[in-house]
Amino acid sequence: MFTTATLPKPETLADVPHDLFEAINHLKRELNAVILAHYYQDPDIQDVADYLGDSLGLSRQAAQTNADVIVFAGVHFMAETAKILNPDKLVLLPDLNAGCSLADSCPPDAFAKFKAEHPDHIVISYINCSAEIKAMSDIICTSSNAVQIVKQIPENQPIIFAPDRNLGRYVMEQTGRDLVLWQGSCIVHETFSEKRIVQLKIEHPEAEIIAHPECEPPVLRHANYIGSTTALLKYTKTSPSQVFIVATEPGIIHQMEKQNPQKTFIPAPGTNNCNCNECPFMRLNTLEKLYLAMKNRQPEITMPEYVRLAALQPIQRMLEMSV
Ligand code: 13P
Ligand code: SF4
Repeated sequence: MFTTATLPKPETLADVPHDLFEAINHLKRELNAVILAHYYQDPDIQDVADYLGDSLGLSRQAAQTNADVIVFAGVHFMAETAKILNPDKLVLLPDLNAGCSLADSCPPDAFAKFKAEHPDHIVISYINCSAEIKAMSDIICTSSNAVQIVKQIPENQPIIFAPDRNLGRYVMEQTGRDLVLWQGSCIVHETFSEKRIVQLKIEHPEAEIIAHPECEPPVLRHANYIGSTTALLKYTKTSPSQVFIVATEPGIIHQMEKQNPQKTFIPAPGTNNCNCNECPFMRLNTLEKLYLAMKNRQPEITMPEYVRLAALQPIQRMLEMSV
């Protein structure tokens, strides 16, 4: 009889092989796995990924993959979205503690009350939220398509926008719509110092400032260009500028440098002399943990089926509404 005593012992950090790239590529073939990674991951993880993208691109890839196993190198809500779209696939997240301060700033109970106070409103939620919040939403959006989606809603239809107040304010400015905002935010994008960015600009007058819409209005006001991580990356290629001050998580700079080897990228500074512009959740994933997740086939993302089904509809609406 096969007892727990005879089950193979899960590998631990002490067991990881020397050539992790080769070992991961071997496991990819063995499991028929695909590695989806966000731009905020460590450069090593970006280099081993099959697909690298922003939240919208990663959702699209998750919706169309033929792999049996999805290894999600990102944060929990991203892997959860992949699971919502792929209930029959094994979805692995290298570190289950890779959460998101923005998703955490919108607890389901409090949001249910908020929603009940605005019964005539539809709910558009930024994908950076839990499956429970998605299940209470009508449409999901990302930083790539939030403006485009809000513009498609009839003018007389009131809207709750959750959970990011900064992206919400930016969408209000871009669309002229009056949105009811949930007051959530991202600890990483609220760490940038307007004062230190202005000082940097004085030192590098030729630089363009590019920023993610999760940044606060005083930072966004100085930006030459605002967009999702994919949009920022594309902009660095099309802009004639040779120097950029980058106001988002600095993981993206790995791709900016790879795709523009002759250009210079300066990470926008935070309020303190720390690495607090690095997302502490994204950076919990490491190449070692990614290997172990594939080897041990865990940690796995799971959720109750009724939550998954309710969360699926607004994600599908987003995919249909964004070109
Ligand atoms: P993107 O939509 O650019 O992927 O943003 C994701 C994110 O977490 C930003 O903090
Ligand atoms: Fe969440 Fe902010 Fe990290 Fe993005 S950067 S995953 S919004 S905490």
